[in-house]
Amino acid sequence: MEKYPTRSKPDSATFAIPRRRLLGFGTVGLLAAAMPSLVGIGTAIAKPTPADERRLKQLVDEAHSRFATVGDGKNADYIPYLASVPSHLFGIAISTPDGKVIEAGDTTYAFAIESVAKVFTLALVMRESGPDIVKQKLGTNATGLPFNSVIALELHQDDPLSPLVNAGAMATVSLVNAANAEDHWRKISDNMNGFADADLPLNQAVYKSESDTNQHNRAIAYLLQTGNHMYSDAMEACDIYTRECSIGITTRDLAVMAGTLANGGVNPISGKRLLDKAYVPKILAEMAVEGLYDTSGTWQYDVGLPAKSGVGGGIMAVSPGNWSIAAFSPPLDAAGNSVRAQLAIAWIADQLKANIYAE
Ligand code: DON
Repeated sequence: MEKYPTRSKPDSATFAIPRRRLLGFGTVGLLAAAMPSLVGIGTAIAKPTPADERRLKQLVDEAHSRFATVGDGKNADYIPYLASVPSHLFGIAISTPDGKVIEAGDTTYAFAIESVAKVFTLALVMRESGPDIVKQKLGTNATGLPFNSVIALELHQDDPLSPLVNAGAMATVSLVNAANAEDHWRKISDNMNGFADADLPLNQAVYKSESDTNQHNRAIAYLLQTGNHMYSDAMEACDIYTRECSIGITTRDLAVMAGTLANGGVNPISGKRLLDKAYVPKILAEMAVEGLYDTSGTWQYDVGLPAKSGVGGGIMAVSPGNWSIAAFSPPLDAAGNSVRAQLAIAWIADQLKANIYAE
């Protein structure tokens, strides 16, 4: 029984931007034994031709059928709501620069965005205050430890090191320029809506489940405060962080949000600029460094795309200047990353020769 509402697809607008060639061929160690290396598109898909679209549709369909039966991983259960989401759900969507979304599986099921939200509030702070404040106050390095590690804070005098772990994400929320709590939430939620070109709902059941059980995050928020790394009221930042994690998004929404980063900061559907083009590489660098937490390095080694995961089961990946892929499936690996979403994105990225480190 699905607990989140589903939404119908918005109309796609056309918004074409010239694209550069996709970068070279990569192997996916994660999957190397399981799949043959096929010939990919290998060229830019600025304005995908009908043939490109058919190829992308084939890829999402094939990835879906290859990995839908993978039974590894387990739903997150430290947030009780997440344990109740049906584990079989699996959606994949690619957002193209001309505003199309090509999808397979359960792409209209609305799941909790969780940690993927961290990227977009980081973008908001960068837009408001510039990249230097991000580097100085939030950090640009990996913790090498789980996303909610207190040991990481202890080891670094309560400096979060990265905006993409829980501590850094609460510090990020605290840096948003806001007059009061209501204004604070409105700015964060409006920003997410802009990236998705949708009116994203706050899932009250997720928010309640997380708020009832977020004592660990509250402790982290107070630690940040004691170390002078919290820039608004600590409990306000923790609560608003909990709310942003509880936003309901579909795989399709997530592809468009990531597509805005792939498209140099301009939403490929609405045509609205959400982020200065010069800041996009900095956001992608943060994703490359800490997007999949303690397995971020392995992801770069195997796949070579900036990506970000959430314990709701969503992952987005960005081919800079080109397209994005989002995938969703609730069962997670030990680091908190969706097993099927990683497999699907890695496989499609390999087919499209999308490794950014390859020629
Ligand atoms: O704060 C938490 O623990 C969750 N709201 C979000 C964590 C998360 O998504 C980590 N992702 N892989």
